[in-house]
Amino acid sequence: MDHFTYRDGVMHAENVPLPRIAEDVGTPVYVYSRATLERHARVFREALDGVPDKLIAFAVKANPNLSVLKVLSREGYGADVVSVGEMRRALAAGMPPEKIVFSGVGKTRAELLAALEANIGQFNIESEEEGLELAELAANLGREAQCALRINPDVDAGTHDKISTGKADNKFGVPISQAGQIFGKLAVQEGVRLRGVAVHIGSQLGELDPLERAFTKLGELVTSLRGAGHTITHVDLGGGLGVPYRADDELPSPAEYGTMVARVTRDWGVRLIFEPGRVIAGNAGVLLTRVVRVKRGIKDPFVIVDAAMNDLARPALYGAYHDFVAVQPKGSDMTANIVGPICETGDTFAMGRLTDKLESGDLAVFRTAGAYGATMASSYNSRGFVAEVLVDGDKFAVVADRIDAGAIMDAERVPEWLE
Ligand code: LLP
Repeated sequence: MDHFTYRDGVMHAENVPLPRIAEDVGTPVYVYSRATLERHARVFREALDGVPDKLIAFAVKANPNLSVLKVLSREGYGADVVSVGEMRRALAAGMPPEKIVFSGVGKTRAELLAALEANIGQFNIESEEEGLELAELAANLGREAQCALRINPDVDAGTHDKISTGKADNKFGVPISQAGQIFGKLAVQEGVRLRGVAVHIGSQLGELDPLERAFTKLGELVTSLRGAGHTITHVDLGGGLGVPYRADDELPSPAEYGTMVARVTRDWGVRLIFEPGRVIAGNAGVLLTRVVRVKRGIKDPFVIVDAAMNDLARPALYGAYHDFVAVQPKGSDMTANIVGPICETGDTFAMGRLTDKLESGDLAVFRTAGAYGATMASSYNSRGFVAEVLVDGDKFAVVADRIDAGAIMDAERVPEWLE
């Protein structure tokens, strides 16, 4: 459920008609709904009522906008970060350091140091090499880093290959077959307190089964680590729950996920950490765009919009489906190819899509663009970065300025010897 609905034939974000935002801020523009973010944050938390001790750490990569993080911080959420840039955003949004978890296979020394200095809650170590490096840095600072070892459970998440992370040949975590030995080696290092394990098998998961298999393997690992004398107090179950991009997508609900988690982890006796991203932010945002022109084709016409693959990369990268609808539907349909202005064929949002009838100048939205939307933008074709707006009831604010192509060019220099 979201708060992007039609009233008197015009799509609104909460109580704000989208044409007003287009007029004030221009297009393309990402529009987020605070009420939707809060609703999703609460639904996910309540779904985990059966888990007595938990931390929910929003996966900042899904939507790192400061105001979005602020909304979630006020809901009591922490943050799962994968770079110092994300860590600084979480801190700036008021998330307490102890609620920050740092994941990622390539944390640099500088990043490890910065996170140690910020005193974050947990490092999810992704290799023996990283663990040894962190231990040395922490020991030199006289610190003890709270850590979990990320396990690669070798489970096929059944999602798109590019966002699958838990198969043996993926780069993430340590192979479950080596986990006991690596855990033993890292657990004795000064500078780290290895207190648990972590797993994340992929994103946009359409079934609970792979998650349950991964969690079950993790539970067995916890038992065997305890058997070897280790104290396990924390287990991080990652994120990954999918959202409906199509109205008829059938996905497990947060409640079903929560029930499964509570059942599988009942006897673990640990604090569980969750890292949801898409399920919180996905349906809380749309990309608002204007039709530049409609061009005749051999078969279907091309609806050329002012948003492009640099603004919303998911269709070009993963062949992802985003619902596309008119802001003020005229009551008739058309079958069209929805494309952006960028000079490559990959800049195609949809082919042969049945959509509302659109003409030059009309406004339309790509739905479910609140996660992995603005954050994956680039400036390809010397297009700028689009603005982001947050709506709250009757009011809205620009929460990220449009960065135009000129500002990006201003950051470049031509050396004297080329003048
Ligand atoms: N935790 C870790 C360690 C992750 O790598 C991710 C996502 C998450 C949590 C959050 O997963 P979520 O709950 O959002 O599924 N750009 C792709 C998605 C990449 C996800 C990367 N990792 C897309 O647009 O579909």
